[in-house]
This record gives sequence, C-alpha cells and structure tokens, in this order.
Amino acid sequence: MELRTPTRRRDFLANLAVALTVIPGVAIAARYVLAYLVPRRAAAVREVMLARLDALPVGTSREFRGVLGNDVLVVRLGDGDVRAFSVVCTHLGCRVVWDQQEGNFLCPCHMGRFDPTGKVIAGPPPAPLPSFSVRLDRDAVYVTVPVEEV
Ligand code: FES
Repeated sequence: MELRTPTRRRDFLANLAVALTVIPGVAIAARYVLAYLVPRRAAAVREVMLARLDALPVGTSREFRGVLGNDVLVVRLGDGDVRAFSVVCTHLGCRVVWDQQEGNFLCPCHMGRFDPTGKVIAGPPPAPLPSFSVRLDRDAVYVTVPVEEV
C-alpha cells in the first residue's frame, strides 16, 4: 500500500476523519436504540401488612425496622389517612422521628423538618422523605416497599 502520494494520503485522512466521526455516532445511536428495545426490569416491590389500624391512634406513629430491608415510619394523620416514609433523612442519613406535638417529622442531627407529606420545611435536607404506598384493608395497614437486593 502506497501512502506517499499526496492524493492517497489526503484520501486516507479524509476517510479516517469520516470514520472517527461516524463510528462514535453509530455507537451512541445503537445505545439509545437498545435502551428503547430492551425493557428495563421494574424494581421488585412487595406489599407487607405492618400493623392493625387500632394499634396506631390518630396523630401517632410507629417505626418498623427491616421491613424487607427497609426501615419504615408509619404515621396516622386521620381516620383513613395513614402514610409511610423511610426513616432515613435525605441530608446525611440520620433517623427521622415523628414529632407528635409539631405534627411533622424531625431529624435531630441538624434539625431538619419534613411536613406530614414528607416535604422539607426546615433545615438542610435536600429532598423530601422517600414515601411508600399505603393501603388500608379493613383494620390492617399494608405498605408496599422495595425488596432488598440480595
Ligand atoms: S442528617 Fe437529617 S438534617 Fe442532617
């Protein structure tokens, strides 16, 4: 192969430039096409019965540790209004508690506060408390939590 003539060298460099442009473009496009075509596995979740409703008076909370790998704080705000959140603060991971007098969640580490919906209302937490789906069936409280990866 002779690359010494200016025309062939120019052709070679032009082809190299096209290849260096096209190959990454094709690779990026293929990545998006594959991501579209191959369905993602949904996170595994499971519904767990956590408590009887009569064991959770209105305005109170209970903490459940290790529910399929999750520590869950359940609070009953009204007759049929029960909510469940992660006890892990979104700031630096301290454990939040339900402040019954204030009617909101408190993280004692840096005085972060979350309203009853989990939204940050004071302090440094950068994000709301992660919440879990709650279902009431007759007198039982069911919570849907992610299943811990093994
Ligand atoms: S760890 Fe909760 S406010 Fe800092």
